[in-house]
Amino acid sequence: MASYLVTGGAGFIGSHLAEELLRRGHSVRIADNFVTGKRHNLAHLRGAEVLEGDLADTCFAERAACGMDYVLHQAAIPSVPRSVEDPWPSNRSNIDATLSVLMAARKAGVKRVVYAASSSAYGNTPTLPKREDMPTNPRSPYALQKLVGEQYCRLFTELYGLETVCTRYFNVFGPRQDPSSPYSGVISLFTSALLTGNRPVIYGDGQQTRDFTYVANVVSGVLLACEAPNVAGEMMNMATGGRISLNDLVRVLNRIIGTNVSPIYKQSRAGDVRDSQADISKASRLLGYQPIVSLEDGLANTVAWCRTTMAPLAAEIPEKPAA
Ligand code: UD1
Repeated sequence: MASYLVTGGAGFIGSHLAEELLRRGHSVRIADNFVTGKRHNLAHLRGAEVLEGDLADTCFAERAACGMDYVLHQAAIPSVPRSVEDPWPSNRSNIDATLSVLMAARKAGVKRVVYAASSSAYGNTPTLPKREDMPTNPRSPYALQKLVGEQYCRLFTELYGLETVCTRYFNVFGPRQDPSSPYSGVISLFTSALLTGNRPVIYGDGQQTRDFTYVANVVSGVLLACEAPNVAGEMMNMATGGRISLNDLVRVLNRIIGTNVSPIYKQSRAGDVRDSQADISKASRLLGYQPIVSLEDGLANTVAWCRTTMAPLAAEIPEKPAA
């Protein structure tokens, strides 16, 4: 049994990591300021210690990291458009707090920090799939901030010998991704729109593509990144290696839900990336990582979860009969 600090543990990805760690019998501490994290995401996490505070506050970060074997740094304000509208709050959460967590992890003598990096760092690189040795080209404050966090991790490994691994997430989705904000991930927004009889909004022509990654895949990859030997200072993609356009995504979701709703098209968003698809061979080679849940199964699980949580609103849309 090892002890894990999950920063942002009340958030979407963090709460899934905490859940899996508890299931494996580990000791889990969650540090969250509940700005984007939700208390109800912790309801099922029996046995986790919860600390509420701001990780950019070095005293709080030190308290959180004290006595931990591993730090899974997931806390962030994760939205491209939100960072474009107001770069300052996400700068504090995504950069200042990351530095503070790294300093605290070093002081606490943790074995390894695994950092939630972002595929947005690549920007509009012309070649697909995106490989870790390609140049970065951040197109939004969010992308830049997550890239700075990565660089801080690498630097802490080089300068201070603190083991860090950066996992570049590609558009993670799944249960507990909050659909209630306009900044939410597109799959949660499309699913909740279709389940409530509304038309999903597509920004742009819908031909932009993403390597949508079901959350269980990321959880398995991050936990592998804690234990794999000889990976300190490495950064790697965490994705599925596929891609789908938003137009096709609406079609697939319509099929799973049993609706036939066409999207509304609006002007594309500033800072948006055109295409995103990962080469996952590095994570496969270094960690033995392979996606364990397909896009289609992940979407079906997500729809099933949304149906339960949105039951009152979705009541009038019947479940699709079995084929
Ligand atoms: C980006 C990052 C991703 C990161 C995420 C955090 C890239 C390639 N990916 O995701 O790694 O985790 O930020 O927020 O940069 N859209 C619609 N309708 C909507 C909502 C979104 O059409 O209602 C479109 C967006 O314009 C975009 C796509 O759907 O083209 C995906 O958007 P979103 O889910 O917000 O994620 P990214 O910005 O791609």
